[in-house]
Amino acid sequence: MNIENKLAAMTIDEKVGQLVQLAPFFYVKDIQQQIFGHVRDLGISEERIYRTGSVLGIGSAKEMIEVQKTYLEQSTAKIPLLFMADIIHGYETIFPVPLALASSFNPDLAFKVARISAIEASTAGIHVTFSPMADIARDPRWGRVVESFGEDPYLNYVFAYNMTEGYQNDGIEKDGNLVSCVKHVAAYGKSEAGRDYNTVDLSRLSLLNDHLDGYKGSIDAGARMAMTSFNTVDYVPATVNKDLLDGVLRGILGFDGVTISDYDSLNQVIAHGVAQDSKEAAKLGLEAGLDIEMASTCYIKHVKSLIEQGKLDMKRLDEAVLRVLKLKDQVGLFENPYKGANEELEKACVGSKAHMDQALTVALECPVLLKNRQGVLPIKGKRIALIGSHAKTKDTNGPWSWRGKAAINTALDRALKQEGMDVVSAEDRWEERSDLANCDVIVLAIGEHSDESGEAHSKAGIGLKHEDVLWYQYAKSFEKPLVVIIYAGRPLVIEEILAADAIMWAWFLGSKGNEALAKLIKGEVSPSGKLPMSMPRHQGQIPIYYNHLKTGRPKKGANDQNPFVSFYLDVENEPRFPFGFGLSYASFTYENLTLSKRLMDPSDRLVISVDVRNESPVAGMETVQLYLQDEYARIARPVKQLKRFQKIRFAGHETKTITFSITLADLTYRDASGRSIYDTGTFRVMVGSNARDCLVETFELEEGRNT
Ligand code: BGC
Repeated sequence: MNIENKLAAMTIDEKVGQLVQLAPFFYVKDIQQQIFGHVRDLGISEERIYRTGSVLGIGSAKEMIEVQKTYLEQSTAKIPLLFMADIIHGYETIFPVPLALASSFNPDLAFKVARISAIEASTAGIHVTFSPMADIARDPRWGRVVESFGEDPYLNYVFAYNMTEGYQNDGIEKDGNLVSCVKHVAAYGKSEAGRDYNTVDLSRLSLLNDHLDGYKGSIDAGARMAMTSFNTVDYVPATVNKDLLDGVLRGILGFDGVTISDYDSLNQVIAHGVAQDSKEAAKLGLEAGLDIEMASTCYIKHVKSLIEQGKLDMKRLDEAVLRVLKLKDQVGLFENPYKGANEELEKACVGSKAHMDQALTVALECPVLLKNRQGVLPIKGKRIALIGSHAKTKDTNGPWSWRGKAAINTALDRALKQEGMDVVSAEDRWEERSDLANCDVIVLAIGEHSDESGEAHSKAGIGLKHEDVLWYQYAKSFEKPLVVIIYAGRPLVIEEILAADAIMWAWFLGSKGNEALAKLIKGEVSPSGKLPMSMPRHQGQIPIYYNHLKTGRPKKGANDQNPFVSFYLDVENEPRFPFGFGLSYASFTYENLTLSKRLMDPSDRLVISVDVRNESPVAGMETVQLYLQDEYARIARPVKQLKRFQKIRFAGHETKTITFSITLADLTYRDASGRSIYDTGTFRVMVGSNARDCLVETFELEEGRNT
């Protein structure tokens, strides 16, 4: 297909239409969908509807075929619609929410989740997924932390990379693969006070060094689309921010795909007070390099007249349309407008047993064991009383699981029984206390529900609910071993329940979440999740993240008596549980941190090794983490930064030597122009089981050693 010729033959109206995205019911009126607010009535004529370019959200092959057919019959240019949807952590087979997935510290699982999501969703004729979300999340009040891979740029890079690879796999032209649209460019996770859609204000260096790596991961893996964020960057809404879209996204990050606004975000530039009306918003958007406008009508209403009045260069329109047409061509829509849609395959594979089995495999690696006094977990051969607000919950899918069916999930009490465990359970506080008095161990299941995190679901308070604390006190009064399972879409402050014997962070683990928890509780598998966000002691510590910059007055350890250092009068600086923390039923020790050299030339490869021993007879997995610190540079640098990790399986009492290698690229950072630079001098190497507990060595980076 010669795209340039196609473009040359199009009218301005037809071109502009390619940049407009509408919901399916605009084309086929009886398609029911949950669509919010004004988009039901965008005030666009029938004629224009049949001149649009893409569709947001479609639920089955049948619907897709109907919409595409109706559209092609009516449209003049006959350029097929591209179908996009939010496939975030599974289509109908629901996998752990992204924050839980990141807890696995196993990038292969991200690939697997994206693969199965793509295989299922593409049978419904979906071509593009709005995933991954690679926004750095350092404020647990923000509801969307649940959709993120957490606070660390490198972890975000790796997970975003693997998700995009999984979606796009061996080519977006092949059936069973999806185009990956990375979002939200940029720094959406920095919403002030954790309130969704709130102002973002950050330094240029923080944007370039902390917030880009996640998006870069996706782009390096070949993501063909990128979505702008709702927020401002340098006081200009991202959606119309030329410096961000042209300079940073296409320039520094080398992105050459299609950009799309977030939902109505082009129109919202008016509310930001940066465009006077939708006409100005349209002009700003196209000039900034925004290709597709999602769910608003600035382009469709004004681009033609802007060009005719000489206020907008036709070149900008052509560039944007060309990118969209190229993507449609790459996907293969010109050969087959119904690409992917396949009712038979849909029936056979969506939510299939094979996919559900994979959902279980993934879910097993995501829960984080935060405490386990005297091995109260796993529970073997004991009578369990399972109580608490979530004792019978099936609500394990989490937000963004619109095709998932929570009703088919297994409740925790049933999942434990399926594992052959002796369980009595109740969700209401018990009148009859004898079951509790007669049990050997109490398992208390509490926490959040799926609708307490996600978009527009921020919280000012992230403590435990009063009801859950009462449950805990009730459980504690029986003086039995007490295991607490917490379902959540974010880190919470859990000080009131810290005296429990064991605490397992269950997140929202998807369709097979409770089966996975039951296997972990029983000890069939040992927990291996690690926290992708620091868990605060107190809400006042937020934002709290391990890789903060050095301060001029750091507190030097717990015993530092100097009153003029950076500290709180009422709470320690450190989080309750650090980034990267998570226990296993096995127990690991680290020794012999060794560097291949103490003096490194910029052209060298430095090899770092450490011996990790499983001190227990139990098999388990450990994520060995490597952090670096640049001790002295021309700007302040983080106290440590994750640079590598490896998740390794150990047999009982096994010792392994784990080896990492780093090069100059791991020692660089971006200057204000986006250039990668480095400073010679001392670097600290820290290797351990979390961001706090590490062995430390140093090396010097010295220019000209090898010349
Ligand atoms: C969200 C995006 C999402 C889009 C389309 C927006 O409100 O911010 O993450 O992809 O809706 O559903």
